[in-house]
Amino acid sequence: MRFNQKITFSICLISVIAFNIIFPSTAFAANTTNGAKIFEANCAGCHINGGNIVRRGKNLKMRTLKMYGMDSVDAIASIVTNGKNNMSAYKERLTEQEIQDVAAYTLQQAQQNWH
Ligand code: HEC
Repeated sequence: MRFNQKITFSICLISVIAFNIIFPSTAFAANTTNGAKIFEANCAGCHINGGNIVRRGKNLKMRTLKMYGMDSVDAIASIVTNGKNNMSAYKERLTEQEIQDVAAYTLQQAQQNWH
């Protein structure tokens, strides 16, 4: 590495560290990247691409979520926590933070039409 590159690299590194010190992730700030992983591991089996292989009418598309009052992080977090009919509850398997993350991811994907 040339001297200039080292300096630039160091400045970047310091900025990233400083940013994390100034803005630490707050307790319940949802993390949709983590949410994506949780969805893949726990939800995709039934809800691949925002569908529902068990009850087709209860999919995760925006229009459907709106129709059933599920178009908010709170509502999604609630069904994930407590389950409903053939969907099991996740409160024993996921932490509250993980449920917030997966709910935020689900809503985000619905808003983007699962693309
Ligand atoms: C075993 C299959 C299965 C798994 C796994 C599953 N679900 Fe579901 N999900 C369902 C079924 C069935 C329903 C419909 C429940 C009802 O209203 O009767 C549903 C409903 C929903 C709804 C409401 C949809 C609507 O249109 O009303 C949301 C949101 C949802 N699931 C999110 C999730 C998330 C997030 C996960 C992972 C943490 C997950 N589900 C895991 C089967 C599953």
